[in-house]
Amino acid sequence: MSNSRSILITSALPYANGPIHLGHMLEHIQTDVWVRFQKSRGHQCIAVCADDTHGTAVMLRAEKENKTPEDLIAAINIAHQKDFKEFLVDYDNYYSTHSEENKTLSNYIYNQCKEKGHIVSRTIKQAFDPEKNLFLSDRFIKGTCPKCKADDQYGDNCEVCSATYDPSDLINPKSAISGATPIEKESEHFFFKLPDFTDMLKTWTRSGALQESVANKLAEWLDSGLKDWDISRDAPYFGFEIPGEPGKYFYVWLDAPIGYMSSFKNLCDRREDLDFDTFWKEGSQTELYHNIGKDIINFHALFWPAMLECAGFRKPTGVWAHGYVMVNGEKMSKSRGTFIKAETYLKFLPPQALRYYYAAKLNSTVSDLDLNLEDFVQRVNSDLVNKFVNIASRTAKFIQNGAGELGPKLDDEAMYEQCVAKGVEIAKLYEAREFSQAMREIMALADIANAYIHENAPWQLVKTAGSEEKVQAVCTQALNIFRILITYLAPVLPETAKDCIEFLNIKNLNWDEIATPLLSHKINEFKPMINRIDGKVVTKLVEASKEDVAAELGKKPEKVSKKENKKTKAKPKSDPKNEIIQFDDFAKIDLRVAKVLECNHVEGADKLLQLTLDVGEEKTRNVFSGIKSHYQPEELVGKNLVFVYNLAPRKMKFGMSEGMVLAAGEGKELWIMESNLDAKPGTKIS
Ligand code: MSP
Ligand code: ZN
Repeated sequence: MSNSRSILITSALPYANGPIHLGHMLEHIQTDVWVRFQKSRGHQCIAVCADDTHGTAVMLRAEKENKTPEDLIAAINIAHQKDFKEFLVDYDNYYSTHSEENKTLSNYIYNQCKEKGHIVSRTIKQAFDPEKNLFLSDRFIKGTCPKCKADDQYGDNCEVCSATYDPSDLINPKSAISGATPIEKESEHFFFKLPDFTDMLKTWTRSGALQESVANKLAEWLDSGLKDWDISRDAPYFGFEIPGEPGKYFYVWLDAPIGYMSSFKNLCDRREDLDFDTFWKEGSQTELYHNIGKDIINFHALFWPAMLECAGFRKPTGVWAHGYVMVNGEKMSKSRGTFIKAETYLKFLPPQALRYYYAAKLNSTVSDLDLNLEDFVQRVNSDLVNKFVNIASRTAKFIQNGAGELGPKLDDEAMYEQCVAKGVEIAKLYEAREFSQAMREIMALADIANAYIHENAPWQLVKTAGSEEKVQAVCTQALNIFRILITYLAPVLPETAKDCIEFLNIKNLNWDEIATPLLSHKINEFKPMINRIDGKVVTKLVEASKEDVAAELGKKPEKVSKKENKKTKAKPKSDPKNEIIQFDDFAKIDLRVAKVLECNHVEGADKLLQLTLDVGEEKTRNVFSGIKSHYQPEELVGKNLVFVYNLAPRKMKFGMSEGMVLAAGEGKELWIMESNLDAKPGTKIS
């Protein structure tokens, strides 16, 4: 594409002292959707991120876990990357601020600032823990609030009465690390002279790089006068030692944003088509965006552009601040179970559901976003399953049962044109990060398609002799609209996009190609793509999140432990599988006879066999079963097995598993449960 853009985008670097949670995920999903959109439009769009590894918190946590900070951040980096990958968030590079590149660039930028006279040193007084021999930042001092006398208040503000104060005003202050009474101690610190950049910042903050509300807020600061920024910390500190200043380290927030550059630098060293200077040198023609939360605006819109300017680098094209994720209308809370880790979410729910829900609520402002768990279930089911997938699931079978090929012409060209034309507006909305509006427009088109299908009711039409052509035309129309919609949704639903490419038997989903409908074109079998979410699963997720917190604190959550205590009397708790269920629960399981029609090895899977089962219906069931080490496929063909008929389909790496066959034993010994060979497939087992 001739007018193709070169874009570099970053998400804020998550701290390496804790897991990724659903608050973080908002930002990474927002970045990823935007990146995928840009790529689908033919632009070069590179996304980088990294872990933010330095600071006292990482140092103390490593100490507590008896590890080196290096070992701790290595383990956390792996965990973070796994979470992003599983949420289908695709960074070109996910790096670490504790890297050679970052050290070199941090030193370079600091030295530039120093040479140009923007660094000064001063001796300051600070709280010091005499037992740990450690200077204490505000968050590591606890005491009684001077105003309301509430105990155990951190640093410089009271969570009970919201008073703000100087940590030295706390009554009976204690080090949160050792419990010792802090003393005041002097130390030399280095400062970046931010006021030197006031004029530049006044212009830059009004250059269109910031949201207007953000620029207005910063103008208040700029007008009331900026202060020097303390960029050094004393040993012991996990970070980079300041060149020429033994025992002094860069404050974590100095080298953190430089982590954006060094992650990109590290990528350039591996990719011949990317040049560091092209993206970062002053005067660069490329675009640079930082996607961040509203809590870290100052670092990105004041300190960072000043440092870049000073060292001869370009400034960001845009700093985009988003709001905070609230859950059920309140701040994420550990005790309410709404502090949900990415990893825990993924144990219960599919990644695309959250991607869609966030997209459906995101806009370009800094307002907070409510993850209402009931609404989440309802929204995903109604938009993705009932509206979107339904278009294909209600029509594909009539093509399949017919020629297996879409018809030669559309039934309603005007409607098709209308859906194609909407693409212009939808693209603008993606570009402007107005994702919620984009999702609304897409769902409005889905509504049109569904109304059309409902009106023409192909399932009725097929019963009328001589209407084959009309059935084909209606379904061709519907599936062509479906293709347009998945092209629009692909940045949000990358996995479904893949499934649709396979189903529609096309090479890719291209915004330019949808103008031409797919006609007289063979399509593949429709397989279920997105499953309904069961509301009960969300309750389980909240319970599991409470247990996460309890495990972290080394105790059981209260509610759960009470229940468990009662159970312990009846039977040992150690095996959760021993839990007693009521007859009604058991009766819900619908067991049936299933005949194995086909059985195959699954390429790339060491434990699975794939079974095609006759369950007494026209449609066979596809099931993956972990029995490969015990059975040869040919042994099973023709057998009647015991089959769980009403188990929710499960998407596995190799495809959808639509039920389960029963087997006894595990590990070395395993027998598949067979039923009488004469039984008819589909017979209920009771
Ligand atoms: N390490 C710094 C960022 C350095 S960038 C050079 C940091 N880390 S963080 O882990 O606390 O946050 C990372 C990002 O997640 C920030 O943009 C932050 O605003 C965002 N969020 C953290 N909790 C959030 C919510 N509950 N909701 C939305 N975003 C949230 O800050
Ligand atoms: Zn108070």
